[in-house]
Amino acid sequence: MNVNECLNYDDFRKLAKKKLPSPIFHYIDGGSDDEETLIRNTEAFNDCDLVPNVLANVGKPDLSTKVFGRKISIPIFLSPTAMQRLYHPDGDIASAKAAEKFNTFYSMSTMANTSIEEIANISSGPKLFQLYIHKDQSITDDLVDRCKRANFDGLCLTVDTIVAGNRERDHRTGFTTPPKLTLKSLMSFGVKPKWVFNYFTNRKFELSNVKNKTDKGTNITKSVIDYINEQYDPGMEWKDAEYVIKRWGKPFAIKGIMSVDDAKRAVDIGCTAIIVSNHGGRQLNGSRSPFDQIKLISDAVGDKADIILDGGIRRGTHVLKALSAGAKACSFGKAFLFSLSAGGQKGVEKLLQNMHDELERNMILMGCKNLKDLDYSRLIFRR
Ligand code: LAC
Repeated sequence: MNVNECLNYDDFRKLAKKKLPSPIFHYIDGGSDDEETLIRNTEAFNDCDLVPNVLANVGKPDLSTKVFGRKISIPIFLSPTAMQRLYHPDGDIASAKAAEKFNTFYSMSTMANTSIEEIANISSGPKLFQLYIHKDQSITDDLVDRCKRANFDGLCLTVDTIVAGNRERDHRTGFTTPPKLTLKSLMSFGVKPKWVFNYFTNRKFELSNVKNKTDKGTNITKSVIDYINEQYDPGMEWKDAEYVIKRWGKPFAIKGIMSVDDAKRAVDIGCTAIIVSNHGGRQLNGSRSPFDQIKLISDAVGDKADIILDGGIRRGTHVLKALSAGAKACSFGKAFLFSLSAGGQKGVEKLLQNMHDELERNMILMGCKNLKDLDYSRLIFRR
């Protein structure tokens, strides 16, 4: 199978599994504890059904929406995800170029292996930067200022990763970053010689955006989990978010909001968007899924901020359901990382093409010409 034959999430996942050493595949695929939240994120979409209106003669539907002050052509974008160099030698460059082609957001993680400036040079497409607040304030300030200079459209502050989640698959596979050929991992890497060749003959693994501020950027001694627990500020508070909003001065989201009260407070301090997310089920297992919570949050603050659903999206119809419940756009991490692993830029483009086609076809079948035709009357819950 190649990326052109990938029709859906499972196809990309299978192809990625074939190509990646197992610790890396499971790092993407896994969640925390017993993974109920990871599973619920997608299953939640099956608790309701779309209600089409027929004989609507919608022609070619308009799939565009506007988030972070920028019009995008499809209501789905790439979630910020760390260390994309592990999945494909082109890493973030492949993702950013693919997103630009579809005029949708590429999102850069604080823990990217490509720098803010490099991405700004190769893409004039919509760009979002995902920020973690470091214990060393000068690292946070530096990231915000550089994104401003590089003209990123938006910034999002991730707030659900103040300590790393309990990813038991990673403990079992011996996942480390950068990957090390330990006795435990030797077999899993040995059976993927092509990945090993690509990894060691391409750019050195580094956290490009922080490498000049901390030696941990080039020398992570154990794993991403240790980096999170060592570098990120677990004492982060609302005043820290407020500080970043002021320093940034452009469209801003908090990523990882799940409660209505937090959503209201985020709007009060100046957020222009809210990313409803539980970090793909990788942090607090047993927490509510974004889709289960989206209507409550959009009812409370949807007229004051753009609501974005992140987590569980596998199909175009999931996006349509999220939009009917009040989201303005959705983002996905796992789906896109599997497509990146499966085929680099071409893989991500195929995924976005599949999503585009699904969205267009299903909008026609729903009898909707514009995304704003999707409202709560178009969803019925089974119980
Ligand atoms: C993760 C962090 C790094 O989910 O975002 O692994």
